[in-house]
Formats: sequence, structure tokens, C-alpha cells
Amino acid sequence: MKKLFSVLMSVVLFAAMLTACTSTTTESGSTAAVSDDLPKIGLIQLAEHPSLDEIRTAIEAQLEAQNGVEGALKNGYTYDYQNAQGDPSTISNICQKFVADDVDVIIAIATNAAQGAASAVQGTDIPVVFAAVTDPVAAGLVSDPNAPDMNVTGTSDAIAVDKIFDLAATLTPDVKSYGLIYNNAEPNSTSVIEQTKAYLDEKGISYVEGAVTTTGEVQTVAQSLLGQCDAVFAPIDNTVASAMTILAEEGIAAQKPVYVAADSMVADGGLATVGVNYTQLGTQTGEMAVEVLNGTPVSELPVQTLTETSVVVNEETAAAIGVAVSAYID
Ligand code: TRP
Repeated sequence: MKKLFSVLMSVVLFAAMLTACTSTTTESGSTAAVSDDLPKIGLIQLAEHPSLDEIRTAIEAQLEAQNGVEGALKNGYTYDYQNAQGDPSTISNICQKFVADDVDVIIAIATNAAQGAASAVQGTDIPVVFAAVTDPVAAGLVSDPNAPDMNVTGTSDAIAVDKIFDLAATLTPDVKSYGLIYNNAEPNSTSVIEQTKAYLDEKGISYVEGAVTTTGEVQTVAQSLLGQCDAVFAPIDNTVASAMTILAEEGIAAQKPVYVAADSMVADGGLATVGVNYTQLGTQTGEMAVEVLNGTPVSELPVQTLTETSVVVNEETAAAIGVAVSAYID
């Protein structure tokens, strides 16, 4: 009897766990109950790190703001948010489920998620609106950002490599070599690294590349690069961003600067960057998704590339490694 009870209890517990999992990853639009008549939005986020979370929050706020507004989503919508936790097979499972659910639009945050969505919707008429794809052409999502040709469009956070390294040259003029840490399975990173190498070659600055395939490898690769180089640069890499605090701690331990490509990576301890505003980017992505839901053909919605950048420095990190940044603090 006791045994049966404990078996029953585990079944109950297991069922409770399953329910808990679904309810944390799936949310419904706030104004309307789920119904087949409402527009369905599937949102996939590549991984969990502060910048992607910031983008999603801004997209959600925009969808809410437009909800019920004349000419926008008059009747509310259903909303299914899924996070792939950086795992390629999870990306494709999520996107296939969105297609099976026949969503009206897939919103995909970050490059690998957008690529998964674009491949899952092939042969269907489901449009994809991506957020923060650094190089949508290199990622194979559009042939021409001004004329989307694959029912896929969205926003881009193209990186100003030269501005970042010009800032680095001002803050730490003695740096003669950079360690470049990134995941080469992320087209957003490989594109920025190509520009980086061209820039450094031109300036006669040397570099060593350090590949990571998972967040777990960031610490060892960071230590190795910091052992060989005067500074480290991390491009707009989701794998590194997910372990940014570890990279930042290693930089401080080695007393060397770690330059990055996003404001969130500075907030997580990187020394400095020149980057775009991701709340703005998320807002624009939400607006595009609403236009698509209102029937505007994707081919009429060019990719929106954010070009306004600002300098971001981390005062605490600067103090910890003895770099003067007061000129950049308001
Ligand atoms: N641009 C990245 C991509 O194309 C996504 C991204 C947005 C990102 N913000 C970031 C990556 C901050 C690292 C840090 O996938």
C-alpha cells in the first residue's frame, strides 16, 4: 500500500512538474482568451541573456500597445513564447511546432533562431519577423535587406567595429594584441570577426582566435587568450554573452581590458563598447510584426538596421584594471 502510494505520488509530482514547465514557457495575450479566430504569434528567443530578454520585453510591450488600436490587432491575439536555451535541436522543434500550430507570424530573436524559423516555414505562407540579426545577408535570410525575398524580414544590429576599436585605441593605446573569443557557429559573430580582422590587419595589430562552442568553454578559452594577448574582444556573440560575467571576471583577474559589442555585455562587466539601443530595436521589431499581421506583404517591409550608437563604459571594471574612463561618464 505504502509502495502504491509513493508510486502514485511520483506520478502526481511528475504531472505537476510538466504543468509547471508548460506554464512558464507559454503565455497568452492578455486581452483575449485563446481562440482560433485570433491572430497567433509564435515568438522564439535563441537563448537567455540580458540583451535578448530586453528585446523580448520591448517586443511584448509593443504588441500590447498596438493591441486593440485601430488598424492594428483589433481583436487581440494569442501569443506563444518559447526559449531555445541556445540548443540547435530545440530551435528546430520549437519552429516546427509553430508551423504545426499554423501561427500567423513567427517572431525570432537572434540569428540562429531566425535561421531555424526561416527553414521551418519553407513551403508555407507563414512570415518571419526577426530581431537583432547582425548580418541578415550572411545569415541567408535576405538577398537584399531593402527587398526581402523569402517572406522573412526584421531588424538588424549591425556592429560598428571601427568605432569600438577606435574607442579602445583611445582608452588603452598600449594594446598590441587582441584575443578574439566567439562561437563560429554563430553567423552574427563570424561576420563581425571578419570585419575585425580586416581592421586589425590594417592597423598592424596582431590577434589570436579562441573558439567556444558552449558557454561552459568560455572560462578556459578566456584564460588562454588573456595569457597570450594584451586585451580580449568579444563580438556580438550569444554564447559569450550568456557567460559574460565569467569572461569579465577573468579580465579583471588578468588586469587586462575586455572589449565587447553590446551594452548588456558592458553591464555584465566588459570594459566598453559602442552599440545600439536594444529596447528601441525590440520596439521596431514589434511594430513590423504588427504590420505583417495587418496584411502588409513582407516584401514591402525592408530590413531596419539600427545605426544610432552610443559609447558605453563600465566604471567599476575600469577602476578595477586602472583605466581612465571619466571622459565617457555623464
Ligand atoms: N545580434 C545577435 C545575433 O545576431 C543577437 C544579440 C542581440 C546579441 N543582442 C546581443 C548577442 C547582445 C550578444 C549580446 O544573433
